[in-house]
Amino acid sequence: MKVLITGGAGFIGSHVVRLFVNKYPNYTIYNLDKLTYAGNLANLTDIENKPNYKFIKGDIVDADFINELFAEHQFNAVVHLAAESHVDRSITNPLEFVFTNVIGTVNLLNAYKSIWSVSSPSPLERAGVRPLFYHVSTDEVYGALGDTGMFTETTSYDPHSPYSASKASSDHFVRAYHDTYGLPVVISNCSNNYGPNHFPEKLIPLCISNIKNNKPLPIYGKGENVRDWLYVVDHARAIDVIFHTAKLGSTYNIGGHNEWTNIDVIRLLCKIMDKKLGRAEGTNEKLITFVKDRAGHDLRYAIDSTKLQNDLGWKPSLQFEEGLDKTVDWYLANEEWLTNVTSGAYQKYYESQYVKR
Ligand code: NAD
Ligand code: TYD
Repeated sequence: MKVLITGGAGFIGSHVVRLFVNKYPNYTIYNLDKLTYAGNLANLTDIENKPNYKFIKGDIVDADFINELFAEHQFNAVVHLAAESHVDRSITNPLEFVFTNVIGTVNLLNAYKSIWSVSSPSPLERAGVRPLFYHVSTDEVYGALGDTGMFTETTSYDPHSPYSASKASSDHFVRAYHDTYGLPVVISNCSNNYGPNHFPEKLIPLCISNIKNNKPLPIYGKGENVRDWLYVVDHARAIDVIFHTAKLGSTYNIGGHNEWTNIDVIRLLCKIMDKKLGRAEGTNEKLITFVKDRAGHDLRYAIDSTKLQNDLGWKPSLQFEEGLDKTVDWYLANEEWLTNVTSGAYQKYYESQYVKR
């Protein structure tokens, strides 16, 4: 069984690659990644020499390259995670998100369609291994909630940011290829992830990095926006279950029923890091700085993952406090990783987002 995982050098992708490589030694796992600023092979050093793991550097926007790759390897299944993933960057440069998230996804669908229709039913399929195009998406496609309610799989799409608009578009293309060509697809829409290997442009790793360096913690607006946080390894476990058992053509929401306002997340993080860094209680909270709000900032996300829990038996394994504690430990133990990703281009990015905000 040849499984192509796209974006496997990124935050979530690296956890999915690790889980698949370790758990399924009889699959060959191909990790296709362009290694943008967010892709980092240092995320995968523990598995890079495993015999069932292969890395391919490449761009999903390059249709000729993608078609040749699929023709050469005849992948049985695809788990598609490669994307531009940061809302703030999508506000500055929306077109990059159209290229990778929309055109890149359609390139992969076309390439998979051409090998899937030729080879189906393949000997592997007859042996019970099903062909699949698994598209990994976000709950942000559903838009924003007020104080009540939750996103379910039937909530209408209503994306607000260029990032969520590009992900919504890619979801629609995946469903269109199922409905039009019969392509075997599944989609999952997950809430905000946190955990090891998270690039420090997103709220939690950015604040861990800043607390460590005694820098201000920039909270957009009043910090009242609500996100539903899930430990990244629990997301990878959900992807594993959905990959192997979901009904073709279906959609699953993934989330931890774990809603927090941003200010409460950062207060908790400050407390955890006061202890771990040996600082007096309340020291880190003094770093909190309220800054200009994000344009079009979605107020609240909350995801109902009952379908996944009831139909496929998945549930999150970690409480948020425990997961955040483990995450901080990882960053403190991996100082070199953090120093490497925050040098060079990161400094320019940071300045452009925060210095005159
Ligand atoms: P990330 O930004 O950390 O990683 C993205 C990876 O894709 C990087 O390794 C990057 O090099 C690669 N990539 C980008 N453009 C590429 C291209 N043109 N060709 C090949 N590779 C390319 O993102 P992430 O947070 O790991 O998210 C992974 C997926 O999960 C995305 O599709 C995202 O929309 C989705 N998702 C993320 C979250 C979250 O909280 N981070 C939540 C739900 C869904
Ligand atoms: P982020 O981690 O960028 O994820 P997303 O926008 O996909 O939810 O942001 C999480 C929340 O934190 C969101 O409400 C925006 C807010 N935020 C800040 O207040 N300050 C920051 O520096 C960042 C990056 C985000």
